[in-house]
Amino acid sequence: MAAVIGNPVRHSLSPALHNAAFEQLGLDWVYVALEVAPGETQRAVDAMRVLGLAALSVTMPHKEAMALAVDELDPAAAALRSVNTVVVRPDGTVVGHSTDGAGFVASLGAQGVSVVGRSVCLLGAGGAARAIADAVARAGAERIWVVNRTRSSAEAAVALAGDVGEIGETTHIREADIVVNATSVGMGGSDLPSDPALFRAGQVVADIVYHPRTTAWLVAAAAAGATPVEGLGMLVHQAALQQQLWHGQLPDVRGMAAAAERELAARGQ
Ligand code: ATR
Repeated sequence: MAAVIGNPVRHSLSPALHNAAFEQLGLDWVYVALEVAPGETQRAVDAMRVLGLAALSVTMPHKEAMALAVDELDPAAAALRSVNTVVVRPDGTVVGHSTDGAGFVASLGAQGVSVVGRSVCLLGAGGAARAIADAVARAGAERIWVVNRTRSSAEAAVALAGDVGEIGETTHIREADIVVNATSVGMGGSDLPSDPALFRAGQVVADIVYHPRTTAWLVAAAAAGATPVEGLGMLVHQAALQQQLWHGQLPDVRGMAAAAERELAARGQ
């Protein structure tokens, strides 16, 4: 059995994604959503031990507290001080991982886009943006400009990008090879996180927002001749990487994406 802990967690797409992956892989596992109150993260880890639960996803508000509750952290989780995946090894060691950033890089890779030697303009500096800054830098980007409404958060994201990180300006949207919206702007509506007049042909433009599936911002990017990358890709790839950590097999993300779409459609989204 595997589970996600969060609060609220009722609307999580994770059960649909992960149960589709277990079915596709022929694994006799089941994945459930467990609502865990803020402040109860450590007790959730204790419960994993008691229940013999070896696989967990972690969402808000437990990601930071989980980084303190586990025995070991992978490099991304250690850098971000945030955990979205927990694995209990056979010897009982509880290990925290962060697959969000690697999931984003994998979603680009699935569309034939490499970040190696490329310049990236990252809009936003929240949890998702920081995971992307860390992963894109590790994956070999040449430059990462972080553009964010609140400068102090932008500085934290720049620090995660190390030598290749810089505070950016909106002019970098035009200059960058790859532009990423890691803000929540555009979710459930048609607001744009940046002026679409700044897009240019030949760029890659990636959104982490997946509702609507193709955001108005991505529509504008495609109209300008850029290659759009939808946010559902990051969601399914970070989940696929969680599966690999739990049992060693990497599921085909297409089935997971289809399950997520069915779930969104069933909810009228
Ligand atoms: P997540 O964990 O999903 O990344 P978050 O940590 O709340 O969510 O971060 C949301 C990001 O969207 C932040 O970069 C936020 O900017 P601030 O740091 O200035 O708050 C950005 N964001 C949200 N609403 C925004 C808006 N209306 N305009 C510009 N940026 C916005």
